[in-house]
Amino acid sequence: MQIIILCLLILISDTSENSSALYVVNVERNGKIIYTWKGNQRNTHIGLYDRQTKQNEHLYMFERDLHIISCSVNSERTLLAVSFRQYTEEERVSRLLQSVSKYLTLLIEIHPINNVRVLKAVDSCVRVQFLYPDEGRCTSTESRLLLASEDKYIEQFDIHVVAEEEHKVVIQNSGQLPRARVADDLIWAQWDMMEQRLFYIVPKLESHLDISVHDTRLKLVNFGYDYCQDREVAPKSLNLQVFTSKAGGLCVCCSLASDIPDEITYSIYFLHKGYNKTFTVSLERAETHQLKEVAFLNLDYYVAAYLPGQFLHLLNIQHPDLLCYSLFLTGEDARVDMLPSCSIQSPLVSTVLDCCAGSIYAVSISDTALLQFLRNSKQDSERLAALHCALLCVGSTTDLETQIIWWISENLSTCHTFDPIQEFIIASLYCRMCPEMHNLDKLLPYTSLLDWIGVIPGVTCATDIISLPILGVQNSKGFWDKLNSNLESVKYAEPHLHYHNNVLRREWLNLSEEKEERRTTAYLRNILENAKKVLSHLDTWDCEERLTPLFQEEDYQQQLLMGLMVSQLKDHLMRHLQYVGKKKIDQIVLDYVANLLNLIHRMMKEVWRRYELHSCVFCFDKRGSAAEFAVFHIMSRILEAANGMCLPLPPGFHTLHLGLGVRCLPLHTLLHYIDTGVLHLTEVCVRKLLKDLDNTEKNEKLKFSIITRLPEALGQKVYQFWNHPVNANFIARKYVKLLLQKLGNGQCSRPVPERHSVPVEFLPLNYLTNTLAGIENQGLHPCEKEDHVNTRFVEETALRHTMMLLGLKYS
Ligand SMILES: *[C@@H]1O[C@H](CO)[C@@H](O)[C@H](O)[C@H]1NC(C)=O
Ligand SMILES: *[C@@H]1O[C@H](CO)[C@@H](O)[C@H](O)[C@H]1NC(C)=O
Ligand SMILES: *[C@@H]1O[C@H](CO)[C@@H](O)[C@H](O)[C@H]1NC(C)=O
Repeated sequence: MQIIILCLLILISDTSENSSALYVVNVERNGKIIYTWKGNQRNTHIGLYDRQTKQNEHLYMFERDLHIISCSVNSERTLLAVSFRQYTEEERVSRLLQSVSKYLTLLIEIHPINNVRVLKAVDSCVRVQFLYPDEGRCTSTESRLLLASEDKYIEQFDIHVVAEEEHKVVIQNSGQLPRARVADDLIWAQWDMMEQRLFYIVPKLESHLDISVHDTRLKLVNFGYDYCQDREVAPKSLNLQVFTSKAGGLCVCCSLASDIPDEITYSIYFLHKGYNKTFTVSLERAETHQLKEVAFLNLDYYVAAYLPGQFLHLLNIQHPDLLCYSLFLTGEDARVDMLPSCSIQSPLVSTVLDCCAGSIYAVSISDTALLQFLRNSKQDSERLAALHCALLCVGSTTDLETQIIWWISENLSTCHTFDPIQEFIIASLYCRMCPEMHNLDKLLPYTSLLDWIGVIPGVTCATDIISLPILGVQNSKGFWDKLNSNLESVKYAEPHLHYHNNVLRREWLNLSEEKEERRTTAYLRNILENAKKVLSHLDTWDCEERLTPLFQEEDYQQQLLMGLMVSQLKDHLMRHLQYVGKKKIDQIVLDYVANLLNLIHRMMKEVWRRYELHSCVFCFDKRGSAAEFAVFHIMSRILEAANGMCLPLPPGFHTLHLGLGVRCLPLHTLLHYIDTGVLHLTEVCVRKLLKDLDNTEKNEKLKFSIITRLPEALGQKVYQFWNHPVNANFIARKYVKLLLQKLGNGQCSRPVPERHSVPVEFLPLNYLTNTLAGIENQGLHPCEKEDHVNTRFVEETALRHTMMLLGLKYS
């Protein structure tokens, strides 16, 4: 997959200046980009570009050719901090400038341009960064400036300004600016612009993270971009970066030097999960001159480990446990358009800075490329990763979802280690439900897989448990709160928190077997009431036309399952979300089950559209087309997927399935499907079948076979629709039953179990013998045991006699 570059962010409005190359030097929190360029007289200009308004603003100009190292403007745009190199070493020697420092750091009043103060005049590089107040806070008279020095310390300056005259803003304090040390003896530091956080490493953390930090000079990440320095790749410097995600993920990524030429190793510490993973990738074409440093990019849901020309590994931060939910791309798939193969950095989420050209780009995962990748995928791990990315990360649009459903319907059978229908349903549900409430993501399943033990070709991965970070922050909000709840759920053994259907199945089977008369218990009434609520909830938000006959009939079994699911999911959420009101949980649970039914409905509608089926699947006088056969097959797979995870189906599903089966399958296959419980005989379908089909020999055979398979209760409801001697069976059956009841004084009023899958050849007799056998089993044996007179004897005799009368041979 290619990560498509959406747009080149920088536009130059002022072209009159005959400007030379333009370099990004910093990105401020409000998204404004500071850049520099050389003007006509080799003047050095500093400008500001606003991504929202697409306006450029000229901030300052030095009448000299300077190499700007670092630059930052405060949020009120009244102060500019800038650090630059005054002379190169050669210039200094040749011009005898020994007493002049190599670097200078200035604080400049620019509103309007006024005083200039020197903050540092030293021989080591300095980076500057203003802190930005939270958005919405009114403008203040105080600005804070971070100053990071190559001499391994960070300071903070507090600068008070006053407004003089009209619009003129000056620094208040005439003497030394108040300053404070933030950190000493640093070896690495990173500025997180968006959240205004400073991450740093001082050597006492060395053993804790287990990162080798010897022999490295100070490495600063995201303290502006010094394009000249970054061009000379420093092989020894620590390639380490911290990423956070909106959902409370905290990762430390670092690449490790490897002595093996065609291999590269990098580690991700998932601090919010309590483990690190070390990946080793074998490179296809090891070109020695090629840069062998992995760049880490922040795409929020993923961290990308990128080695241009080799691979692009999108590591899932949210669900890092199973490797199949990360995308490992190589070859053409790993090509990122427009990104150079030289040094790149990720200053902000979904943003990439090309350090050589000084340009900045927005990056995002393209759903077209993702679909392409899915279609070309050869391995189940690729399919899982692509489905996961499309459904949970890219933010599934209706169109993308349609494409995925089509892919599933056509490529179902290529997946061997997972069921793509189950995966689609569970992942889509997760994505729809989780935004409803904080922490719901830890209680609902995001995948249909319980485990995945496959391998990803070309990558090996080692996982180690690490100790969880201890948060010093109390009553925190936003990111820290989310991180904290992630850590809590790791402590409470996260996998067990996810809702699971195994209890549901047991309970459902138990309740399904309940006898008719017990269906009036309060418990069952409550369960069915739940189902009713789900269906009416669905009615309120489903305005698009529904596929007939879905949702148009009652289906006791499915309604039972819906109701049970509501009740069990509710218990599950109540257990873990005690602080949430019952009303809110009720609503979430209804949404969940209704969304589930809606998804299955949506899938079927799309399949219908894809195969251009019309509503005449219920015209039983014609045979089904090849398209109908394909759809019948997909419906069977949906049924299998739902059974596998004990998910309810929309009422009417079995009617539709049976309807297609009657049209598409040869009789013996149809009957086999019925006998094995794949196809269910629903009242609506059977009634229609009996009514619509005429009595040709073939149809009679079909109708007869169906009727003999009906449970007694259903049979009594429908046999009136077939005006045929076979009805005499039912009349005879009923008569025997009544008579025997009288005879036995109600002793055998218990209905006799139906014998299903056995082909029944001779109905009245069969029923009689069943009933008699039932009485026998109750111990009411009228004769002596040794007589060999029993029900079986009666049956044989009657058959023999009938055969004789008909002149048939009895074997
Ligand atoms: C199914 O997979 C094949 C190849 O694996 C692909 O060409 C086709 O486009 C896929 N079908 C859909 C609808 O995506
Ligand atoms: C991952 O963590 C384990 C346990 O702390 C440690 O032994 C291992 O060295 C770490 N891996 C890397 C690559 O740092
Ligand atoms: C089945 O349900 C009944 C009534 O609800 C209950 O008494 C019985 O214990 C259940 N059996 C099983 C195996 O769960």
